Amino acid sequence: MNTDLKKLITEALSDQSSLFGDELLTPLKVDIPVEKVAESAPVFNFFNKEKTKLPESEFNENWTSASSLEQLDKMINSCKKCALGEARNKFVFGVGNPKADILVIGEGPGADEDAKGEPFVGRAGKLLDDILDAIDFSRKKDVYIANIVKCRPPNNRNPLPAEVKECFPYLMKQIEIIQPKMILCLGLVAANNLLENKMSLTKMRGQFFDWNNIKVMVTYHPAALLRNPNWKRGCWEDVKLFRKYYDENVAGKV
Ligand code: URA
Repeated sequence: MNTDLKKLITEALSDQSSLFGDELLTPLKVDIPVEKVAESAPVFNFFNKEKTKLPESEFNENWTSASSLEQLDKMINSCKKCALGEARNKFVFGVGNPKADILVIGEGPGADEDAKGEPFVGRAGKLLDDILDAIDFSRKKDVYIANIVKCRPPNNRNPLPAEVKECFPYLMKQIEIIQPKMILCLGLVAANNLLENKMSLTKMRGQFFDWNNIKVMVTYHPAALLRNPNWKRGCWEDVKLFRKYYDENVAGKV
């Protein structure tokens, strides 16, 4: 099959999965325990590299004691706990205002982000900036942006459960330091992992979830919007609601 066609089919299937989650395939769903996935994860073959253990001096095992984002970044950015770390060009820690009331969570770095070391700098990133701009938020001043995994999954595939399991604690620590009042999850990977559910995007959109005293909203991933511009209206409705809640409950409050 030619690669363009394969890419189109893969993206279309990924969009279907983003919207409907497991609902389209419910009878086929088999729950594989995380440990089993870790053992059999094809990613280790994909990279065809031996997993090397870093000398302790490079990765600071005491990272849970970090008291600032800068410190945390320094302590973890040599992480090679999964195969994504072995293959990355740059560790993509996060960007924005470390004291922001709003945290935006994506899935994982793509090729542009892997090259630059900053989340959402490619086409999807430009669209994310436009979405934020439309509700009067700026990437540098008003929000902090981070991903579920900090290193690029090959071919932009979804991160595997075993990879998320290693990386997710870093995001939790970022949240502990930033203490955002609101979170915007972009796409199903961000939402399902943060909220620890298996709900579809369709079911999660248009409402707020309470997560550890933080209001969480879920909307489309900008990359999905680039492929399906007719979903932009729905995203606009979501972020307008997000901004309204911010204005009424967060802005100007200590
Ligand atoms: N997509 C994501 O989910 N995160 C990025 O940083 C870039 C693209």
